[in-house]
Amino acid sequence: MTGNNSRFLKACRGEEVDCTPVWFMRQAGRYMEEYRKLRQDHTLVEICDNPELAQEVTLQPMRRFDLDAAIIFADILLPLKSMGVAFDFTKDEGPKIQQPIRSPEDVAALHVGDPEEDLRSVFEAIGLVRSSLDPERTLIGFAGAPFTVASYMIEGSHSRNFLHTKLMMYTHPTAWQQLMETIVEVTARYLCAQIEAGAQVIQLFDSWVGCLEPEDYRQYVLPYSKKIFDRLQEFSVPLIHFGTGTSTLLELMKQAGATVMGVDWRISLSEASGRFAGEVPIQGNLDPLALLAPRDCLEEKVDRVLEDAEGCPSHIFNLGHGILPQTSVEQVETVVKWVHDKTR
Ligand code: CP3
Repeated sequence: MTGNNSRFLKACRGEEVDCTPVWFMRQAGRYMEEYRKLRQDHTLVEICDNPELAQEVTLQPMRRFDLDAAIIFADILLPLKSMGVAFDFTKDEGPKIQQPIRSPEDVAALHVGDPEEDLRSVFEAIGLVRSSLDPERTLIGFAGAPFTVASYMIEGSHSRNFLHTKLMMYTHPTAWQQLMETIVEVTARYLCAQIEAGAQVIQLFDSWVGCLEPEDYRQYVLPYSKKIFDRLQEFSVPLIHFGTGTSTLLELMKQAGATVMGVDWRISLSEASGRFAGEVPIQGNLDPLALLAPRDCLEEKVDRVLEDAEGCPSHIFNLGHGILPQTSVEQVETVVKWVHDKTR
């Protein structure tokens, strides 16, 4: 298989590397002039639906920076297509679900479509990127985890308190279970097809799960995230699990079955690693805002991440969440080079 011994894949497997691999969540996006230019002529959905455009955007940051991995350009909402839920992206507020799922009847009306067909453009884009990417660079496929996807389906847009989502769990536990099972089925098939198309690593984003208390996570979320990872084990690709604000959930999240854990900046990498008994490769965790800070402050924070990572079985350098649109490409370039040079 192409590049099976890339620096990135070795680090995911806990093997020795010549230096620490680097990529950034949201590395393709509005902070890049090339992306903004393309977005003048195409909506986000158009880019995701067009394999050539998705390939182009996926590769934009790979041309600019010495990144160790590309992440396929898509969005965690795309699988909603395969459940009969219409959505769009608004200019300033992000995702918008036209008719949010608020009742057991709404849940019952969902269906499991044909993700291999409904999401075909993503698989085609993966094939195109893999065939044009340097073999030493790894291609990451991804999906949203059931909780985070359910939260968009239920709230209808980004949420502060997740009121409707939590009330669905507490008031209609059977409907919640049915909703989660529907998302699991579509997502598992979506991710299997991504691997078959050429994705070499999978990241499952549970971006907003940190809003839950640990017992609710155990009861209402863990079984479903676990079902997805269980379905992916047969492929032997590294599986990364990431969320924000998850300091109190890390051990439980690990039980879902990922082989690499991503953490945000609210916990140090050394503490996170200790919570996994020092046995799990870790990804993270520079505060995305540090990329906007003066250069000496940025370098200090990058050094701290690298020092904190020293006790981890292996480390993949990343941010603790996505790059902000206000970020300058020069600062991104500085960090990639700094991490590679410092750890070589
Ligand atoms: O480069 C990459 O990381 C790949 C592309 C990618 C996108 N979305 C494209 C996108 C990835 C990995 C995602 C994942 C995603 N989408 C998550 C999980 C990661 C995270 O950030 O927590 C979530 C929660 C979403 C849902 C979503 N989509 C939100 C909240 C937004 C608006 C956020 C914003 O910054 O405005 C989107 C829109 C979106 N998806 C953009 C991009 C590049 C915004 C840019 C645009 O409109 O052109």
